[in-house]
Amino acid sequence: MSTHGTANDAPIGVFDSGVGGLTVARAIRDLLPGESMIYVGDTAHTPYGPRPIAEVRRFSLEILDGLVDQGVKMLVIACNTASAAMLRDAHERYDVPVVEVIGPTVRSAMSITRNGRVGLIGTQTTIQSRVYDDLFSMRPEISLSTQACPRFVELVESGQTSGSEVLEIAREYLSGLVEHDIDTLVLGCTHYPFLRGAIGQVVGADVALVSSDIETAREVYRVLTERDLLRDPAAGEPSLRYEATGADTAKFVELARRMLGIGIESVDLLHTGAIQLPQ
Ligand code: DGL
Repeated sequence: MSTHGTANDAPIGVFDSGVGGLTVARAIRDLLPGESMIYVGDTAHTPYGPRPIAEVRRFSLEILDGLVDQGVKMLVIACNTASAAMLRDAHERYDVPVVEVIGPTVRSAMSITRNGRVGLIGTQTTIQSRVYDDLFSMRPEISLSTQACPRFVELVESGQTSGSEVLEIAREYLSGLVEHDIDTLVLGCTHYPFLRGAIGQVVGADVALVSSDIETAREVYRVLTERDLLRDPAAGEPSLRYEATGADTAKFVELARRMLGIGIESVDLLHTGAIQLPQ
């Protein structure tokens, strides 16, 4: 029998470039409502998508190191772009378990596709990294068609998730994938679940949408259970803390409230000295 100590009470650290990772945080809350969480949005540097992979990696490492310094018991990289940049060594760098979004999402898409034609949409950096292609290549009978959707993150971060302009942009990005007769579409960016309506309308009801939020939350559940790291519900109310690196924390609060219905009371401004960009 194990003794539940401070490690079990410690929060889970969740990180994204902005509000996208809140879709993952929400899914974790749904499965594990007793867990405490610290969520960091690197809003000073969002979007990550058009940035060189080395730069995304540098920003991500600083935020993850900071979360470890705050004593989290697990790191969740709730960002495909950051996961792509760190997939190979994030697990070795930290003593706490690291869950990223790409592995669980790929496994789910592999089990869902019936005709072996899978589509992937993501940021430019995620698509160019070819990390998804590498993982899917383990199943050579699956053919993967990819499409970068650079404007999607911009739309979400400005709170625009419906309307004719969103549909028009979605059609522009997705029509090529539809022509490939895909039966499964991977939403390879944690911002995209906010655009599920428009994406689903364009690709049609026969295409299964696989998104990183739910698959990642299931992985968090599995890892915490297997390592006996679940928080004891008798320990009292869990704490939820939000931090952002960009000065406009009010915008973060407003977006989270509008898009997720999460009532965040405050967001702390996180100072990340080394990762400030030159003005
Ligand atoms: N939500 C992130 C992702 O999954 C980052 C998007 C961005 O900042 O460009 O890729």
